[in-house]
Amino acid sequence: MRVDFLLRNAGALLTLAEGPIPRRGPWASGLGPIEGGAVAAVGGRIVAVGPEREILAAVEPAPGAVVVDGHGSLVTPGLVDAHTHAVFAGTREAEFAMRVAGRSYEEIAAAGGGIRASVRSLRGTSEDELRVAAASRLRRAAAHGTTTCEIKSGYGLDLEAELKMLRVIRRLAESQPVGVVPTFLGAHEFPDEWRNDRDGYVGHVIYDMIPAVAEEHLARFCDVFCEEGVFSVEQSRAILDAGRSHGLIPKLHADELHASGGARLAAEVGARSADHLVCVSEDEVDALARSEVAAVLLPGTTLSLGGTRFAPARTLIDAGVPVALATDLNPGSSMTESMQIIMSLGSMMLRMSPEEVLTAATVNAAYAIGEEGSVGALTPGRLCDLVVWEVDDLRAIPYHYGVNLARTVVRRGAVVWPPADGAGRRVA
Ligand code: NIG
Ligand code: FE
Repeated sequence: MRVDFLLRNAGALLTLAEGPIPRRGPWASGLGPIEGGAVAAVGGRIVAVGPEREILAAVEPAPGAVVVDGHGSLVTPGLVDAHTHAVFAGTREAEFAMRVAGRSYEEIAAAGGGIRASVRSLRGTSEDELRVAAASRLRRAAAHGTTTCEIKSGYGLDLEAELKMLRVIRRLAESQPVGVVPTFLGAHEFPDEWRNDRDGYVGHVIYDMIPAVAEEHLARFCDVFCEEGVFSVEQSRAILDAGRSHGLIPKLHADELHASGGARLAAEVGARSADHLVCVSEDEVDALARSEVAAVLLPGTTLSLGGTRFAPARTLIDAGVPVALATDLNPGSSMTESMQIIMSLGSMMLRMSPEEVLTAATVNAAYAIGEEGSVGALTPGRLCDLVVWEVDDLRAIPYHYGVNLARTVVRRGAVVWPPADGAGRRVA
């Protein structure tokens, strides 16, 4: 068979192809290794994965095919970032410095900073400016091994500005080195003009925003920031039900700063994921374990907010909840595009094994954003998204932190990192 992509000379190829999706409990570490593996693809989709001898006997690269050298190193599926707010205007390093000096995230938000500061900036920024700024973040994410990410709206908080954000996300999905899954988060905060009529704003989300988002097919998921001082459990439920009736699958920011019952609500409404979960209760862990909800953990946010209490990843995994990891990339509480640092924090702060962090950053993350049929594992029929690492042992990824260990990043059978030079040559 003629192919237009071939990865050869890999050391350990971890396919993540064994086991159920999502992975729970002990399954969170079945990696489907192939020593000296190769991957072949046509039109961006994998057609064969296996030991190099077998693959080379079965396929032949067409003239001009992309042939990637695995350098005898570790090769994994491309990383999936299951929770980002990658579209935003302006940055908030002044708030970061205030937190370093001792002010809390919630104090800063109550004083008009936080999400509402980002809303004021975004409303005054054009679609093109937002797209250019987000595109550079996605290129940085790709350089660190991310090949698919979810992106939320939620810095518009009025009909026009939420639609503007979602249209930017759609354009990014069409043009970027990273695959993009859109989420509507109109219930991210109460904007300044609705602070004295909070139920009125919930009605605006339900009756004006959700139908418009659904009509333009701008989002797959509907998310809510369910938290003390933000959206209550009952308000969150009403918004998620309305989203569901318009075809938007529920997700939740749950139990981030206080035990607010968000995880239980996620289980009750059949959300695809419950994210953060720092303050999740024991009962809620049981409810999640009995459900189909994925737990998306965001240790970069805890770190960046100066917290010492991290999400109970071990309890969740041991109870059988499928766990994913994500950056939460946003200007307020987690300014990183790198899934690699998140994988390090997964091991260092959440006590997840290297096998569990890889599972959480690939196949379980793909499940958390409804992309498990197309990404997250290297099997025939899935997209040819993979990372050739500079290291040959999986344990080195969480261990060696704060630097970029991705040598070559491939999305849909094309090299997206390192970038081509002026003459179109790549140094990979
Ligand atoms: O996931 N928790 C709510 N939303 C973001 C923070 C957004 C911001 O501060 O701009 C989060 O941490
Ligand atoms: Fe978030």
